[in-house]
Amino acid sequence: MSGKFITLEGGEGVGKSTQARRLADALRARGLDVVLTREPGGSDGAEAIRGLLLEGEGDRWSMPSEALLFAAARADHLAKTIRPAVQAGKWVVCDRFLDSSRAYQGIAGGLGDDNVLRLHAIGSGGVLPDRTLVLDLADEEAAARAHARDGGSSDRIGGRDPDFHAEVVAAFREFARQDPDRVRLVDASGSAEQVTERLLGQLADLLP
Ligand code: TMP
Repeated sequence: MSGKFITLEGGEGVGKSTQARRLADALRARGLDVVLTREPGGSDGAEAIRGLLLEGEGDRWSMPSEALLFAAARADHLAKTIRPAVQAGKWVVCDRFLDSSRAYQGIAGGLGDDNVLRLHAIGSGGVLPDRTLVLDLADEEAAARAHARDGGSSDRIGGRDPDFHAEVVAAFREFARQDPDRVRLVDASGSAEQVTERLLGQLADLLP
């Protein structure tokens, strides 16, 4: 019996964290042993780095520094939380992972996809999820939802300008096009129940 590593991705305001919880519950209802976790964070060391990344001024870090901090947090999270759980036969549902660094720092941040993948090779041995579900919404709807959630204020990265976030969304769509076996776009419109059903549908071939 081997576990699976599933990541949820998407731009701001697509309902990702709600769906991560709902997906974890739906998998548990199927009898699976599920660990729900998130990035940046998910282990003691990575949660400490989370504060450095998300708080403070927009220009607190250069883009390379920011990418290195995400990679360091991810290395700790993988070693302490994700890998042990998967090796113990559990299903890990992770709210954001490598593809967020590729989209936010690599593409929208201009560091380059190759550089982000290089950092991931150094920090985490290049480990990829068994499946990545990208919640995808028409851009206007996502912006409205993000605004409704936090009144327009946001963390250091969520508060970047609309062009940055449009590039993030386009990058996720491109990852799904490049690697359709691992990365699946999932329509995030409609009710929470409908979206969770779509997510489960994209895991059908992995479920026992
Ligand atoms: P959250 O809004 O999903 O909690 O994520 C926190 C912010 O961190 C969000 O704006 C996306 C950003 N982020 C990156 O820029 N790169 C990454 O690798 C990760 C995991 C998150």
